[in-house]
Amino acid sequence: MNKDINWYWNEVKKVFRDDEHMVDHTQKVYTYAQEILSGQPEMSTEEKRTASIAALLHDIGILEAEKKHGSRMGKYQHIEGPPLVRQIMEKAGELNGTIDRVAFIVGNHHNFKRVDGIDFQVLIEADMLVNLQKENIRKEKLEEFINNFFKTKRGKELAQPLYLKKREPTG
Ligand SMILES: [Fe+2]
Repeated sequence: MNKDINWYWNEVKKVFRDDEHMVDHTQKVYTYAQEILSGQPEMSTEEKRTASIAALLHDIGILEAEKKHGSRMGKYQHIEGPPLVRQIMEKAGELNGTIDRVAFIVGNHHNFKRVDGIDFQVLIEADMLVNLQKENIRKEKLEEFINNFFKTKRGKELAQPLYLKKREPTG
């Protein structure tokens, strides 16, 4: 019997302990992932589940990266994330293929050139939707970036207000 999303959510909170920022960030990315998935009728239930678990676990290695390497940078998260993904998903009794897939996505999620499937694409779009809101990028650059980066229908729709609403820097 596969574990449900609440079970995974509990595991995420255990790993992030009292890091409220990471819990909050993961919640936001998961919510965006669900929105994007709702506009993807061509994806199978299994693919959607893989993308959902990947959204919940995508930053799972961040505290371990900081502890072991003194940095939260993507390249260290890519090292520390997959073993934690495997540990949690094995405990959940997932199939090896699903575990491998989520471990691959988590272990490459800052490496956009490695995106090789719609489940991976959904995760990076959801993560980007959260992260773009913190960035201060010029409107034209942002528009160009969004047009190139977002591939899913809902992802594009959700990203557009981020630059349409943006004002030109005054100074
Ligand atoms: Fe993230």
